[in-house]
Amino acid sequence: MCGIVGYTGYRDVVSVLLKGLTNLEYRGYDSAGMAIRDGEDIKIFKTLGKLINLKNELESHRSEINNPVMGIGHIRWATHGSPSLVNAHPHTCSCGKLVVVHNGIIENYKELREQLIKKGCKFRSQTDTETIAHLIADEYSLCKNLETAVRNSVKKLQGAYAVCVIHKDVPDVIVGARKHAPMLIGIGEGENFIASDTPAIIEYTKKTVYLEDNEIAVVTKDNVKVTDINGNIVKKKVEILPWEPAALSKLGYKHFMLKEIHEQPDVIRNVLNGKLYDIDEPVELKEVNIDKNILKNLNKIQIIACGTSLHAALAGKYLIEEFSGISTEVEASSEYIYRRTTTDSSTLVIGVSQSGETADTITAIKQAKEKNAHVLIITNRPDSNMARLADSLIHVNAGIEVSVAATKSYTAQLISFYLLAIHLAEIKGFKDSKYLKGLKHELIQLPIKIEGILSDTSGIQKCARKFSSYKNFIYIARGINLATAYEGALKLKEISYINATGYPAGELKHGPIAMLDETMPVLSILIPGGITYEKVLSNSEEAKARNAKLIALTSIDDKNLESLFDFILRIPPVSEILSPVIACVPLQLLAYYIAEFLGKDVDQPRNLAKSVTVE
Ligand code: AGP
Repeated sequence: MCGIVGYTGYRDVVSVLLKGLTNLEYRGYDSAGMAIRDGEDIKIFKTLGKLINLKNELESHRSEINNPVMGIGHIRWATHGSPSLVNAHPHTCSCGKLVVVHNGIIENYKELREQLIKKGCKFRSQTDTETIAHLIADEYSLCKNLETAVRNSVKKLQGAYAVCVIHKDVPDVIVGARKHAPMLIGIGEGENFIASDTPAIIEYTKKTVYLEDNEIAVVTKDNVKVTDINGNIVKKKVEILPWEPAALSKLGYKHFMLKEIHEQPDVIRNVLNGKLYDIDEPVELKEVNIDKNILKNLNKIQIIACGTSLHAALAGKYLIEEFSGISTEVEASSEYIYRRTTTDSSTLVIGVSQSGETADTITAIKQAKEKNAHVLIITNRPDSNMARLADSLIHVNAGIEVSVAATKSYTAQLISFYLLAIHLAEIKGFKDSKYLKGLKHELIQLPIKIEGILSDTSGIQKCARKFSSYKNFIYIARGINLATAYEGALKLKEISYINATGYPAGELKHGPIAMLDETMPVLSILIPGGITYEKVLSNSEEAKARNAKLIALTSIDDKNLESLFDFILRIPPVSEILSPVIACVPLQLLAYYIAEFLGKDVDQPRNLAKSVTVE
């Protein structure tokens, strides 16, 4: 949700902040704002809607900014208070001298607000953030030291925050603080940065210091000081970011989503690299720090995740049970949190998250840790909060994913689950080694098969054009491809706003079939040679008998299918067990092209944010 960037240094402050916000725009796009220290003054600019509006606003006021030396910027995804200009960040104290941008949610803001109103503070917005501005200003009026004022104030805050604070009377200083929301500092030469996520700074520096909860940073252009909540200096490690700035460019593609779909063959190669050397060698998962004997005798695994990661988890459950016989539950993080779980010290809990910042999953993982479970995190962000909670970590290595709709990170999560399941099979001796060899061989071939799909998408585009005017879709599958049906449907609804639902094919006749008529396309995932093929085919026939339009996703070249289905999306031949990796690609592209034809904002769909840092 929301993104923060701060800068102090020799470059053009407005351009650096705009660039940083552009690279964070996938985190939120309801409104944007910036506070620029211009000589003695702090000038504030805010606009509603996407960042382009702030860019235009700044352009028209450029001549009024004469001597900018530092500033803070924010891009918002509304939580407290509607997306309006008055609620847009930055927020200020009553006199306007102290300016704040904030990510997160302050849970006790109403009590604090009442206390501050009694002291005479004038509130203008409905946000929790404005409370922080008044609170720090109140403290500052007593201690006259911005760092101390921030420290004393954050002690009173309950909830999650990453804040950046500047003050008119404290030139050249940005104070940052965090708790349960990410914040990092970018170290430069004669310049420094502060941000909620690495894309904001990657174009300028790779040297990074990650703030931990309850730490406070005082950032000037030549210095960074980090202290704990009691004011003790904390010696921080400077880390080098693994990302390249090119990851934030569309490289000629119309959208990040399309670029990221096309990156999938290489992403698979990256995930396999270093873990699967040879089909005759066991899978190596060095980052899984669980004693082999414990793994061998493990009798329960719980996987928790949200959204697309939850769908990867569903496929993961299927694989783990198939390859190791270990009973595996999958649950949405938001549900796991509010029930009596059976997690204990003999449970392996796997958290799956592209961003590693999803609040529900973080809370669920913390609960699992309190119950002494071993926590394995599968994430694309080894630098994330979730990764820091991990006892074992699998880095899925998909590279920065900018499009709000997850694509390559899903494929990378799937491949990670194949590797984990094979690893468990090898430890437990649960599967025949000849079978595992064959599987590894086919796993290595997957990128080439996906390249085949990506080299000619004309069929998928034709299908998208034919079906883009339908208002509802049903995706059906059985077995491991149920995850594919859920994920394909999620992609379509996320970016085209078409109502699409995934169902187990066998469930169709237990209710959803009532909806079927000629206005409802049913997309069936049919993997020839698989144990579910015949049954999904008969379920498709049941749909046809109710006049539904039928789309098949299949590798089979069969005349009988051509008479049954209105459209056939072809995939290369693949075994059913590995087919989710192949089958998800045309479904991502189908969603992409339908959204494209409908003129939707593919990379930044309405109401969504890339990482959901509120529960
Ligand atoms: C995916 O397309 C979605 N944007 C969303 O469902 C996402 O997968 C979910 O919010 C979980 O995010 P995470 O993987 O970063 O935890």
